[in-house]
Amino acid sequence: MRAVQIKPGIFWVGAIDWAIRDFHGYVTPDGTTYNNYLILDKHVTLVDTVKHDFSEYTLDNIRGLVDPAKIEYIVINHIENDHMSSIDRIMDLTPNAMIYITERGKKALDRFYDTSRWEFTIVKTGHTLSTGAKTITFLETPMLHWPDSMMSYVKEDKLLISQDAFGQHVATSARFDDEYCDQSSTTQLEHSVRDYYANILMPFGQLIKAKIAELGKLDWEIDMIAPDHGIIWRKDPGKIVKMYLDMANGKADLRVVIIYDTMWQSTEFMTIPLMEGIRAAGVDVEVIKLRSTPTSVAIKRMWESRAMLVGTPTLNNIMFPSVAEFLQHLLGLRPKNRLAGAFGSYGWGGGAVKEAYEAFKKMGLEVVEPGVEVLYRPGVEDDEKCFEFGKQFAEKTIEYHKKF
Ligand code: FEO
Repeated sequence: MRAVQIKPGIFWVGAIDWAIRDFHGYVTPDGTTYNNYLILDKHVTLVDTVKHDFSEYTLDNIRGLVDPAKIEYIVINHIENDHMSSIDRIMDLTPNAMIYITERGKKALDRFYDTSRWEFTIVKTGHTLSTGAKTITFLETPMLHWPDSMMSYVKEDKLLISQDAFGQHVATSARFDDEYCDQSSTTQLEHSVRDYYANILMPFGQLIKAKIAELGKLDWEIDMIAPDHGIIWRKDPGKIVKMYLDMANGKADLRVVIIYDTMWQSTEFMTIPLMEGIRAAGVDVEVIKLRSTPTSVAIKRMWESRAMLVGTPTLNNIMFPSVAEFLQHLLGLRPKNRLAGAFGSYGWGGGAVKEAYEAFKKMGLEVVEPGVEVLYRPGVEDDEKCFEFGKQFAEKTIEYHKKF
């Protein structure tokens, strides 16, 4: 892959990771890219690096344009390993470069490298860096999605280099939204955006809204958004901003997703009348078995749906482990604006459904309770109970959905 000019004198010099299928536990069936950008100006400037395994890829791209030893400035927008871990390799080639980074970024970088031999300029929101004919203005975005995070705006080119925000895990030969949608589809791209948001940015909806509002007040003209993963938004950068605002404001489909696991199929049998009850109320429904589905896929489908019903057998008086793990993962993502309920089978004393509701309440989700519990094996009367609970749950979902 060669460097791709994205604006006059500004080049994508990143790497495409076609092979990655597990991104720290998040499944990435479509791979990803690590995007970084080189500004060829009076002072050659590199914005971000790439994951260490790909350092030679970015260096080849850079060498196609300029000797890496000529890089004078390096901006580190974010110190997570997928964007920072080639910094030592690059600094070996250009040891006198000045690194521009936030204070928190510098403190974190110190934990990874001996930085005593490198030069730093600590930047804050509003600070600028002149590369010659171009000016970079920095915008700190703490907790979007790490404490150190920031974005870089190139005024002369109306270009926002947005770091992880607005990215997607997609390996593609296309660099831009219009190219990608010509080759694949807009729907596929939206799918990738929602997947990324659900698994990485879900906890930060309020911060996202506040930061987009702050951006709006900055009087920055933006006609291109270049994230650190996936395609660059040049045809319609407003589209991704609107998608983020919609998700941050709680947009979801009127659908119930049943997410369950099962030991001897009793909890699984319950999903059938539940599904039929939900359908009878006119609501779309999807069923996901946890041990057959990667957690990040279940998270995404939950995020796209207005409500979830969680099914868990009781094992040793507590939730089935895969269900407990899913809910623990979800707790960290702090879901909002979703309705929840639970069901499950038990043999001796029960307890899993109660625990599931406790988990929902810890997350601050609205719930429909009590859920349904079945002793050993669902009989005809249990099927009727499940059908009725599914129907009521769907009716409450319809009402709840009207709030958004
Ligand atoms: Fe793509 Fe937060 O790293």
